[in-house]
Amino acid sequence: MSLPRGFLDELRARVSIVDIVARKVKLTRKGHEYSGLCPFHNEKTPSFTVSGEKGFYHCFGCGAHGDALSFEMRANGLSFMEAVERLAVQAGMDVPQATPEEAQQSRRTASVLEALDAACAFYEQKLRMPEGREAAAYIVRRALSDATVARFRLGFAPAGNALKAALLRDGWDEATLAEAGLIGIPDDGRSSYDILRGRLTFPITDRRGRVIAFGGRILGDGQPKYLNSPDTPLFHKGHVLYGLAQARAAAFETGRIVVVEGYMDVIAMSQAGLAEAVAPLGTALTEGHLAELWRLCDEPTLCFDGDAAGQRAARRAAERALPELKPGHSLKFAVLPEGQDPDDVVRSGGRVAIEQVLAAARPLADVLWDMTVEGRDLATPERRAALDRDVQAVSARIADESVRGQYQREFKDRLYTLFRPVRAFTPKPQRGGGRGKWTEPPRDTVETAPPAGPRAARANERQLVAGLFVRPVYGLRHLEAVSRIRMADAAAQAFLDAMLGVLSDVTEDVDDPALSGLIVARVAEDVVAPVRDWAERLRWAALSAYEADARITDLIATLRDRALAEEVAAIEMAMEAEFSEELWLRLRALHQERERLRGLDGEV
Ligand code: UTP
Ligand code: MN
Repeated sequence: MSLPRGFLDELRARVSIVDIVARKVKLTRKGHEYSGLCPFHNEKTPSFTVSGEKGFYHCFGCGAHGDALSFEMRANGLSFMEAVERLAVQAGMDVPQATPEEAQQSRRTASVLEALDAACAFYEQKLRMPEGREAAAYIVRRALSDATVARFRLGFAPAGNALKAALLRDGWDEATLAEAGLIGIPDDGRSSYDILRGRLTFPITDRRGRVIAFGGRILGDGQPKYLNSPDTPLFHKGHVLYGLAQARAAAFETGRIVVVEGYMDVIAMSQAGLAEAVAPLGTALTEGHLAELWRLCDEPTLCFDGDAAGQRAARRAAERALPELKPGHSLKFAVLPEGQDPDDVVRSGGRVAIEQVLAAARPLADVLWDMTVEGRDLATPERRAALDRDVQAVSARIADESVRGQYQREFKDRLYTLFRPVRAFTPKPQRGGGRGKWTEPPRDTVETAPPAGPRAARANERQLVAGLFVRPVYGLRHLEAVSRIRMADAAAQAFLDAMLGVLSDVTEDVDDPALSGLIVARVAEDVVAPVRDWAERLRWAALSAYEADARITDLIATLRDRALAEEVAAIEMAMEAEFSEELWLRLRALHQERERLRGLDGEV
């Protein structure tokens, strides 16, 4: 609906933004303006300011900015027209109707809503009457308090056509009751009938708390367990969230919203003090639901049963969310103990138990990752490539370019970590930087490389020089790689230096015995002696040239890897002091070099 020009200006002029904000935020005066803690982000010192004069609010912390209307919309999760209507009431103004048709339509809607409210009151009343005794007993068995019954306006629909009879008596006509979804009118001319009979009634409201439909639960066992109103002009099952009206204020206070499966879950959680719970009406989450949830909270938490069906539902919800993601908007996934719904959890463990479940909720990205990667065999390059393809297909479904880019990066990093057998640096995903963490690879690799650690390092150094003493041709062929090696063991380094000195003079094609003889002849005996000793003890001579080469290659790789690890540690420390892109790139390069080392065989 379009509003005549000038109306909004007058509305803004008549309402006081300071009063409106003050209902949600504790404001203190500062000169011409007011300030307080921003309701749109978490903060400890006030950076939220309101100017009555200028008619707007502004947060220096998160950049939230707007006028009275946008504050109402954002703080209360209202649509634009809802905010207009609400402020108009406060300002004592009538919202103009644009066209006669619209006026007619809104009168019609108002009358249907009124009929629904009358039905709700009728059901509530019946719950307290003798015919509602069985329903009242059922409510007691489900441990619902009077306050809860009143808050959710639970009621009882008697058998027969009691509702129709009562409302017709009060002057309602059948057409309105049918449009409200309260009665059905058969095509074949038979008389109309109450939709809900002999059931506990759960009024379903729009986000403002106006009744738009009902769910009816059978008392005890029987099928169907719940019967819901048919879809009507006011009620579209796939868009409505049960409990939203009650949950909204709580969601605003706590900054979170929790999605559960059933009516009874919402009610039980609310009774336990967790009022920010809503449920779809027995359907999977739709885009409409997601949009509604994101108006209330950036990262709604979805609760799923721990069983296979629950996990399937979680997968569906995660996939459904992908095309809808926007910067800042995501989901969290909480897993309930298997076979229990939130109602059971609350009943057995109270609020604490459900809070524990919620506290363990995981971000969407983690859940998607696990869904894609779990149970995959990564033993061959082809299988790893298949996983790479599947992971990319997940992020490709994200419509928002910026979010998609972030997912691609994140998943690439994760694949990188997953595929590499050495420990890897994972940048911290949270906002605000931080160091990230070292993780061991999940991959099960056979540890063929020599052991690590300072003592092992020294042993490796001695092994290596002993190996080179027995197989100097290796040193000759890989002179450059060998000359790059730095050893902590002084005796080992002394021999290496001496040996390299000899090798650099060799020009013709020689074999091991000849080269060994040359070394022994040219290098001081006290430098050669310990190495000869190590070679004997380590039985290097027992290896074939081929085996010796493989072993030496392995040792060089290990030592180089250790040197790289030291460099990585130094960079990590520097990054702790200050994160920089340059350091990060250097770190990645080091990791890549380590990875190449691990893959090397024969070639150094
Ligand atoms: P549940 O069977 O989990 O219902 O179905 P519940 O809310 O936990 O109810 P109790 O504890 O058994 O009394 C979850 C939701 O699925 C829809 C309802 O919205 C219900 O809350 N549903 C379920 C139906 O619409 N029809 C049904 O027959 C069953
Ligand atoms: Mn239940």
